[in-house]
Amino acid sequence: MESNKDNVKMDQIDRFYRYIKNGMNVEDFMQKFHLSYNELTGILELFRIYGRVVDIIKKEDALIFDKPITKTTSTKKPDIDFKNLIHTEIGVVSDTHFGNIHQQMHLLNDFYRECYNRGITIILHCGDLTDGNYLNRPEQPRQQFLHGFDEQVGYVVDMYPEVSGITTKYILGSHDETHYKNGQATVSKWVSMCRSDMEFLGQDFASININGVKIFMDHPGGGSAASISYKPQKRIEILESNYKPQILLIGHYHKSYAFVYRNVHGIQVPSFCDKTQFQQKQGLLNVVGAYILNIYSDKNGNIEYFEPEEILYGEKDMWDEGFKDKNKVKKLVIR
Ligand SMILES: [Fe+2]
Ligand SMILES: [Fe+2]
Repeated sequence: MESNKDNVKMDQIDRFYRYIKNGMNVEDFMQKFHLSYNELTGILELFRIYGRVVDIIKKEDALIFDKPITKTTSTKKPDIDFKNLIHTEIGVVSDTHFGNIHQQMHLLNDFYRECYNRGITIILHCGDLTDGNYLNRPEQPRQQFLHGFDEQVGYVVDMYPEVSGITTKYILGSHDETHYKNGQATVSKWVSMCRSDMEFLGQDFASININGVKIFMDHPGGGSAASISYKPQKRIEILESNYKPQILLIGHYHKSYAFVYRNVHGIQVPSFCDKTQFQQKQGLLNVVGAYILNIYSDKNGNIEYFEPEEILYGEKDMWDEGFKDKNKVKKLVIR
């Protein structure tokens, strides 16, 4: 059985591994983490032991990392001229469901810290910031430690990670909308009035342009399908040819799936809430995690290379924040 010490070591190894990009300068990496050559050698040895493939090669008098790129949905070979492309790196999260006893804000904090370490400045949130208040689900309050609009939205304002240099651009989802349906209270109005680092883009949907790349953020309604790929593919099928984005980000389903369909890079974004009673009853899969997207585009916004990095959390990372341990969750503030 794996000990806690092994888990901690594994987490650190994974953090270093995720940070290292193919072609990254080794000196820069060592400086960033204040590492000596001996410590670097140790890390490479641990990579080898834990099955992470990273080598160091010499290129034009500099030492760089050679890291095989394994997670890509691009059909193009990566032997393209990256120097002439615009590189955009963004974080993508969804379905934080604040107020639900199964919320995982400590993991959201972990993800924001990771984004900060990488120098990411934009994180997109695809809806369901709050757990909402369904009047037709009388069992819902028992699954919540924050009830109603004031408590849930106040919590987002007070507790959502606040990280220097990072703006969270968000849409609202089906659970957020219940507050409006119950009494015309709009989550975004209060969140964005109180938090200058949180920018509201729309209810259920937004189209944004980042460095010329057209991105749709989508929070559908309705239930999941038996197959993970069915609903996201349907979302792409309804897009008109001349109106399609380069990237479609889909929240709501609490699942993780990256694919290419009709020349659109689709990402089904996982959640930051552990399986709820509703999902358990319905036999629905629930995935906790997020994505970091590395996008290489030309000056016209065409994507030449796309690397979606899936960051998933397992049962060992999760605890239910709404029970007796709720005071253990601290707000992440990096100034
Ligand atoms: Fe959701
Ligand atoms: Fe939803």
